[in-house]
Amino acid sequence: MAQLPNSLEARDTAFQLHSYADARRQEETGSLVIEKGDGIYVEDINGKRYIEGMAGLWSVAVGFGEKRLVEAAARQMEKLPYYHTFTYKTHGPSIELAEKLVEMAPVPMSKAYFTNSGSEANDTAIKLIWYRSNALGQPERKKIISRVRGYHGVTIASASLTGLPNNHRSFDLPLPQILHTTCPHYRTMKKDGESEADFAKRCAQDLEDLILAEGPETIAAFFAEPVMGAGGVVVPPDGYWEAVQPVLKKYGILFVADEVICGFGRTGNMFGTETYNLQPDMMTLSKGLSSSYQPISALLINDTVYQPVADESHNIGVLGHGYTAAGHPVAAAVALENLKIIEERDLVGHVKAIAPTFQKRLAGLAESPLVIETRGVGLIGAAELKHEALAAMPGALGAKTNATFHDKGLISRNMLDAMAFCPPLIITEAQVNEMFDIAEAGLEAVQGSL
Ligand SMILES: Cc1ncc(COP(=O)(O)O)c(C=O)c1O
Repeated sequence: MAQLPNSLEARDTAFQLHSYADARRQEETGSLVIEKGDGIYVEDINGKRYIEGMAGLWSVAVGFGEKRLVEAAARQMEKLPYYHTFTYKTHGPSIELAEKLVEMAPVPMSKAYFTNSGSEANDTAIKLIWYRSNALGQPERKKIISRVRGYHGVTIASASLTGLPNNHRSFDLPLPQILHTTCPHYRTMKKDGESEADFAKRCAQDLEDLILAEGPETIAAFFAEPVMGAGGVVVPPDGYWEAVQPVLKKYGILFVADEVICGFGRTGNMFGTETYNLQPDMMTLSKGLSSSYQPISALLINDTVYQPVADESHNIGVLGHGYTAAGHPVAAAVALENLKIIEERDLVGHVKAIAPTFQKRLAGLAESPLVIETRGVGLIGAAELKHEALAAMPGALGAKTNATFHDKGLISRNMLDAMAFCPPLIITEAQVNEMFDIAEAGLEAVQGSL
């Protein structure tokens, strides 16, 4: 990328350290500077338009440029630009949003607790789980199980939950109390001759074996995304959740559903919890909650969690936890308006209606000799790539394909060699076709260059 000395690109390289980037490569190649967005499209500072095939970071549900959210933010800014919910104070938007989320929850929930990011929501979940164990007189019940390839964030505890090597390497993580069980990806994890149903049962058996090996009385909770996102879009095999949930029940282990990606329509229901008939005790929500127009996340807890936590805060005299900006009135007002849009426009019904086209076009990518597997549900999916010439360098083919898609006007994201698709929920059927037409042409171009 040619960089003029005073260009935005050059200043970005000079002053900003990027997440999920190789900083040395960044120094050489710079970044793509996005300037504006409208619907499913974004535009860079050179006027090039892209389909945002990842909805930003799996998050801009209602699309870019939604004026109602801008107006909701402006109204709240005028009225009360900031207040908090510490001690015994509160404000209208946080109350309304808490009530709305508890009402929307697909399983009984008791309270909402606000945070600013998915990582903070999961981190807070861990802290409340530990607090609860102490409240119940079970101080040994502190271990948490998550899954290899699961993604739950990057704070010290949530990065420990995350089951991806690059979130641990050189960060001295994971924390010792956090354990990882089998990733439910059938193609890569199955044994020779194992059926999908048997694989699902073995995943549950692996979980039970881990619980027994560690001591069931030491395991406090299990964290999982209904469908794994950043680990490569791993859709659980049939029977997986039916086999796993009884194991948790058997040993009195809390279930935390990380709905940060799946929540608010992505899988074709309002929550992934409904798509897979889950019974979580806690749910973490973010991204689609405000369509990422404002940083906000929420943790929902049921009474099994709330009551002991409330008792413990009473014994100590205070729940010693909280973030200055949590439940921020502007973020909460934007989230409320965003949820109104999702409901008024029946975006969940819309996802249900166009998911068959999305999934058919995704599956159609397998006609490319580069694609060895496609997987998805609702409006989320991935195509896994492989080519002999690049087989020794995991991620190289994905990066090359990503760059080709970008050139052709499609922003996607490669997780190693899996190309993810997770567009804004407002995408139309014609735009789904436009997106996959570009992906097909991109794969053909990559194939031709190898
Ligand atoms: C399932 C899931 N949980 C948690 C997180 C962390 O959220 P944040 O990046 O807002 O901390 C993410 C982010 O991608 C996610 O996909």
